[in-house]
Amino acid sequence: MKKLLVLFALIALVLGSLTGCASEPEVTGPETVKVGIAIYKFDDTFMTNYRNEMEAYLTGMNNDTVKYEVSITDGKNDQATQTEQIDSFIAQGFNVLIVNLVDLTAASTIIDKVKAAGIPTVFINRQPSTADMGMWDKITYVGAKAEDSGTYQGEIAVDLWKANPALDKNGDGIMQYVMLMGQEIHQDAALRTEYSIKKVEAEGIKVEKLFEERGNWDRVLGQEKTAAAIAQFGDKIEVVFGNNDDMALGAIEALKAANMVVPVIGVDATAPALDALESGDLAGTVLNDHVGQARTSVDKALVLLAGEAVEKEYWVPYVKVTPENYKDFK
Ligand code: BGC
Ligand code: CA
Repeated sequence: MKKLLVLFALIALVLGSLTGCASEPEVTGPETVKVGIAIYKFDDTFMTNYRNEMEAYLTGMNNDTVKYEVSITDGKNDQATQTEQIDSFIAQGFNVLIVNLVDLTAASTIIDKVKAAGIPTVFINRQPSTADMGMWDKITYVGAKAEDSGTYQGEIAVDLWKANPALDKNGDGIMQYVMLMGQEIHQDAALRTEYSIKKVEAEGIKVEKLFEERGNWDRVLGQEKTAAAIAQFGDKIEVVFGNNDDMALGAIEALKAANMVVPVIGVDATAPALDALESGDLAGTVLNDHVGQARTSVDKALVLLAGEAVEKEYWVPYVKVTPENYKDFK
């Protein structure tokens, strides 16, 4: 009798699952997807805009079937701190990671970890080497071609120079310039420094580097370095290039304090930089499209999560921003 009952129960189960009419209706909430985002440091204007957009874009996709749980960590510009944060994402079983490395030389260590844990990862803003990116097929990079941002800065300088002969203060036909560089570890710093000046020279304008130091992407350091350049070279300075807007804005403060008017050119097109363009303090900048990059990195994270193939890298274009078109970006 007992055996018969078990048999009936089994048959009922099989039939139920076949016809899909289970006796109890299934209660299913949205599936939770845990997205871990590691930022090199929170105290960075561009990366703050970037991370806010990633979060807004992800949570904006929440619906009845999927809920993105976003956790963002502040690496405090310290790789050991960031590595611990990534270890913790892994230990907590996060589904996918987006990583803005502090130190590019740590890429292979991080890739070893996410690969071992089977967690697909999108690198952003700081590009690991080709060899590192070849370590696993579930990683990709989203960025912008730094060469182009440098070239656009050069174009802005050339256009200004050609339109205003008075910029050549000492009339020697040579552009005497100051260069404020970003952090050494970052490809954008080296490439913007190189390609901005290459473009000026390619247009047949001679250049003389008066001063070139690192402001590490930081506004206060940009101001301090420019003040040091002014103390050393004063009115010899004819153009200032900043590898990013924060340093360019710092340079403007230093120039104002010295009662000097010199064209300053940045990169990023942050909100305060666009304000400075409007007021005439900043000569030009280059849009580093944080919205486009944020959405592309999230999109690629979801592609990886779906188990689909990705390219090794994705590029979001830069756009030259001058007094003529800055309103389009405000
Ligand atoms: C941006 C900088 C930013 C840096 C952070 C660069 O692409 O232009 O403003 O500080 O990325 O890594
Ligand atoms: Ca000159």
